[in-house]
Amino acid sequence: MAITIKTPEEIEKMRAAGRLAASVLEMIGPHVKAGITTAELDKICHDYIVAHDAYPAPLNYHGFPKSVCTSLNHVVCHGIPNEKPLKDGDIMNLDVTVKLDGYHGDTSKMFVVGQPSILAERLIRVTQESLYQAIRMVRPGIRTGDFAAVIQKYAEEHGYSIVREYCGHGIGAVFHEEPQILHYGTAGTGDLLEAGMCFTIEPMVNAGKRQTKLMRDGWTVLTKDRSLSAQWEHTLLVTEDGVEVLTLRSDEDFPRTISHRDD
Ligand code: MF3
Ligand code: CO
Ligand code: CO
Repeated sequence: MAITIKTPEEIEKMRAAGRLAASVLEMIGPHVKAGITTAELDKICHDYIVAHDAYPAPLNYHGFPKSVCTSLNHVVCHGIPNEKPLKDGDIMNLDVTVKLDGYHGDTSKMFVVGQPSILAERLIRVTQESLYQAIRMVRPGIRTGDFAAVIQKYAEEHGYSIVREYCGHGIGAVFHEEPQILHYGTAGTGDLLEAGMCFTIEPMVNAGKRQTKLMRDGWTVLTKDRSLSAQWEHTLLVTEDGVEVLTLRSDEDFPRTISHRDD
């Protein structure tokens, strides 16, 4: 399958799906506190998504058993919600994908429980800034490697490493479609962006080495050296002259649309 270019009707549906996915992360914030389990958070997200006439896309996706992913501390991604309560100092990525009216919105953010360490806070901030730097570059005519190289450089300059085994992806009627969005690489390489493409950028940044290890549950991805890991994800639309962040939240100090017309 080639990279899909969304029609105006599809773009409206991607906007609605993106808005709903973002609202799940806005809604769940006040619930993320010491003592609550990730299974309880999963249930709240599940019920909210279903009540909004959507489906939580991870549920039963290649056998994934829950409706969202919760990845704590040295878990890189695809953590399975469980019965263990959150505790002070935990950092958690909560990754939400909804399917609404046939189209997907996919987004994740980092939550901190109580007071995180200075190191955790810095890792979280640098990871989010690497995503924002990449988004600011998105426009027709650039290649995926152009922003991938910037993400890698920014993370590595801060002494961190980029996970290579998992990447962002095209998204639409299909959860994971072309193109693959690497978060490391070389400017001038990769797929050429065109208006109407939708894809995610979702860098996973480790405080230590980049290597990962898959747990025996077949899902949970850990840092091999047990260092902390952070991730942020947005679903994006390439517009005629820039980008629209389909999953922007109210807690973000970032524009929904960026136009490069007058650059
Ligand atoms: N939401 C993840 C992504 O960003 C995928 C989760 S698939 C699951 O692509 F099966 F692990 F839930
Ligand atoms: Co994704
Ligand atoms: Co996701």
